[in-house]
Amino acid sequence: MDKLLADAGMGTRSQVKELLRRGFVTVDGAVCKKGEQKVSGQERICCQGQAVEYARYRYYMLHKPQGVVTATRDAREKTVLDLLKGVHTADLSPVGRLDKDTEGLLLLTNDGELAHRLLSPKYHVDKCYLARTARPVEAEALAVLEQGVDIGDDKPTLPAVAKVNEQGELLLTIREGRYHQVKRMLRAVDNEVLYLKRLSFGSLVLPEDLEAGAFRALTEEEQERLRHDISG
Ligand code: URA
Repeated sequence: MDKLLADAGMGTRSQVKELLRRGFVTVDGAVCKKGEQKVSGQERICCQGQAVEYARYRYYMLHKPQGVVTATRDAREKTVLDLLKGVHTADLSPVGRLDKDTEGLLLLTNDGELAHRLLSPKYHVDKCYLARTARPVEAEALAVLEQGVDIGDDKPTLPAVAKVNEQGELLLTIREGRYHQVKRMLRAVDNEVLYLKRLSFGSLVLPEDLEAGAFRALTEEEQERLRHDISG
């Protein structure tokens, strides 16, 4: 609570603690005196009778570096939330997951509905990955990856788009997000992923100047485009 009030511009952490102590803050109509009170971000919060304007839904893009786990908490490993320095992370979740050794674009939000839809196979949100592979991916393998391949699940993968760039790296665009999907698809064509990076997620593209480990809030336009991605 004290962090939320400070983030919303109500004062410094100690000033907002004083406002709380004096009973000036209400949560859904009830006085709240505790700075450490957990808030989900959905409540109506008032300070000295004025509604506190804070964004109900928050969206961040992170350039996840290798070596960090996509989880909200972990007893031993550094998590993606640990990288969102200075952000109120209690209600944020990653949208989908990237493996510990995968880097690239990861969206984090407290908008559960949007996250759910972005991950739903129903909306077919494209994710583009760049993979360096143990062996060159030949035309025949590209065709197999594109058509759909048996990776040991009950169904083959959905049609994808597969290309090799001038550096011999694979650019694979898939619409699903099955566990270790890209690595398993490459294994199914007798290859192996050595390095994996997610370049895009729906209409969101990893900016070239967003370094590994860095993050930023989505712009209004990016949020709008994401909503558009799942409106069909
Ligand atoms: N596919 C994988 O195999 N790993 C990832 O992290 C993402 C997609």
